[in-house]
Amino acid sequence: MRIDVLTIFPEFFGQVFDFGIIRRAKLAEIVEINVHDIREFTTDKHRMVDDRPFGGGDGMVLKPEPIFAAVESLVGTSDRPSYDEGTRVVLLTPQGQPLKQPLAKGLADETKHLVIICGRYEGVDERVNASLVTDEVSIGDYVLSGGEPAAVVLVDALVRLLPNALGSETSAENDSFSNGLLDYPHFTRPAEFRGMKVPDVLLNGNHAEIEKWRREKALEKTRNFRKDLLEGENGDM
Ligand code: ADE
Repeated sequence: MRIDVLTIFPEFFGQVFDFGIIRRAKLAEIVEINVHDIREFTTDKHRMVDDRPFGGGDGMVLKPEPIFAAVESLVGTSDRPSYDEGTRVVLLTPQGQPLKQPLAKGLADETKHLVIICGRYEGVDERVNASLVTDEVSIGDYVLSGGEPAAVVLVDALVRLLPNALGSETSAENDSFSNGLLDYPHFTRPAEFRGMKVPDVLLNGNHAEIEKWRREKALEKTRNFRKDLLEGENGDM
């Protein structure tokens, strides 16, 4: 997968993609991640990336011209129906569809080239949505100052789902949410720590019993902390 992130704060991303699974996936050429400064695509003297909203109101709106120019340079066109199959242009915005595991899985499975536009300030000129964007995505019902932290979240959630991104020792299939439940509790050595004991069932080597215990604990955690997941209130879980 190739990922291009468009932002007015490229320095924000510093080394954020240089650790752990993302770093390993980059080194293994499972994913290529490039961060682009939207300002580099301006053509005016002042290199303006934002402007006041028509109709008045607070804040600034990201201008369409540099974003169109960036997408044209990265995708080859700003005409959404002409995108190659496997090209997705995601706008991160609190107005987007909520990022849940199935959306991450769908994007990881179907996308070859992902362009991520980090929204800012009061918003992004609506013509960006109308012409360029294939998916508007929100990482949750709260407002960030911009899409940059959300881009990190989206990239992380996607990259770990790419084939071979996780070592053979781990699997995304056992993650929280991939079966619609929260994860079960984990323990490692020592078997007793400051008087707190690891449950006996995990020490006895009976895999059927361990599986049963894990399933029960996952259900219990989900019931206690995220009842909505069990009641199907969460729509697309
Ligand atoms: N930009 C601002 N808030 C956001 C959110 N919750 N998700 C994605 N992008 C955002």
